[in-house]
Amino acid sequence: MSFITNITRTWLTRTPKPFLFTNEYDQMLPFTELENLGLYVHIPFCKSICKFCPYCKEIYTKEKCDTYIDALLNEIQIVGSRLKYKKRVTSLYFGGGTPALAADRLGEIISVLKRYFIITEGIGAELHPENVTVSTLQTLKDAGITKISIGIQSFQPKYQKILGRKTVDTEKIAQVLEQIPFETVSMDFIFALPQQTFADLKNDIDIAFSHGANHIAVYPFIDFTFTESRVPAMAKKEKRSLLDSITEYCSKKGYHRDSIWTFSNTKGAKYSSMTRDHFLGFGCSATTLLKDSFKINTFSVEEYCKRIESRKLPTSLTIRFTKYQRMVYYLFWTAYSTKVDSRDFERFFDIPLQKAYGFELLIAKMLGFITEKDGVYTMTKKGAFYYHYYENFYTLAYIDKMWSVMRKEAFPKEIQL
Ligand SMILES: C[S@@+](CC[C@H](N)C(=O)[O-])C[C@H]1O[C@@H](n2cnc3c(N)ncnc32)[C@H](O)[C@@H]1O
Repeated sequence: MSFITNITRTWLTRTPKPFLFTNEYDQMLPFTELENLGLYVHIPFCKSICKFCPYCKEIYTKEKCDTYIDALLNEIQIVGSRLKYKKRVTSLYFGGGTPALAADRLGEIISVLKRYFIITEGIGAELHPENVTVSTLQTLKDAGITKISIGIQSFQPKYQKILGRKTVDTEKIAQVLEQIPFETVSMDFIFALPQQTFADLKNDIDIAFSHGANHIAVYPFIDFTFTESRVPAMAKKEKRSLLDSITEYCSKKGYHRDSIWTFSNTKGAKYSSMTRDHFLGFGCSATTLLKDSFKINTFSVEEYCKRIESRKLPTSLTIRFTKYQRMVYYLFWTAYSTKVDSRDFERFFDIPLQKAYGFELLIAKMLGFITEKDGVYTMTKKGAFYYHYYENFYTLAYIDKMWSVMRKEAFPKEIQL
């Protein structure tokens, strides 16, 4: 696994140097001058724990969640007070865990953030299907949430069972969504589950768009080594044919693909916290991407609260990118939107994309992974599959490895990837 990522990393970053994350820069946060900055807030609590889910979370209790949110408000103040004036940011996303469990306190978090930031592109929050009730949705709306993402996973009991989740009450969800509309209503699905067919997924997509969603995310199942799930992996050929069929079906229906895994039936319906130049993350396990560094907060709720109590940033590890490492990071995440505009790249790095990666782009074109028009590179269906295929290696060699350590150690000294 790491053989493939080591070779591509050495090739594309032009150095055998690994990605080195250390605890040396844990109180540094040079974000005040950055443009195109998004905000992310992590709420690490769920009513029950899904065995397949890798994210940082614990069982919800009101008391624990309230203590955590009190610390979160302080973290925002510690970071925000570094600003001399209110800063314009793009969007704000609440992820988890299940942020909707803290619906009654999201308004408070938003108003503290608004003391320091001007949010220009809306506010999103994740929900478990059980949270889709009139009262919770009304609370979210009153708090200023404009986009919601519901973790459906599958509408079919067979796959819900495989994932250890309860059956979703589709009609009830549709009724509630009709009563309390949002600018974006996204539904998450997982594909490549055992014996899952295109007919199963087509059914899920149709139900989503006819029951209140205007945006869907169809993620491939990833079997993280530290999760307890025992869902067998689907073969590469089968997976490719499923992804191709989903893409063809959505494009035939006229749905817009705004990233590798997401489609919408309405112009302007968007839900993505990843595809932006920079982001600031608050809370446990939240990550922050800056001009030439990336940091990750501690995964321990307890240690997080302690750090904040001593008025210190809860950063666990930071990487200071070399120029090429940052370029690779930029291209990997921008490609996630299926398009890379060479002008944006040049504006960001002050070097033409052709000069940095002309040879690689030529090969990608020859292999039929990308097409180019007016300096914009667009991923083909084949390219999207191989991106996905590579992303699986990336996830297991980097994210899985890092999260395995972070789950056990609140503040490791260093990690090399
Ligand atoms: C934090 S959860 C969503 C909100 C809520 N906690 C829930 O369970 O419905 C984020 C999304 O990540 C996706 N996800 C979680 N584990 C995954 C895995 N092992 N492979 C692929 N996608 C996964 C799911 O689609 C899930 O809805």
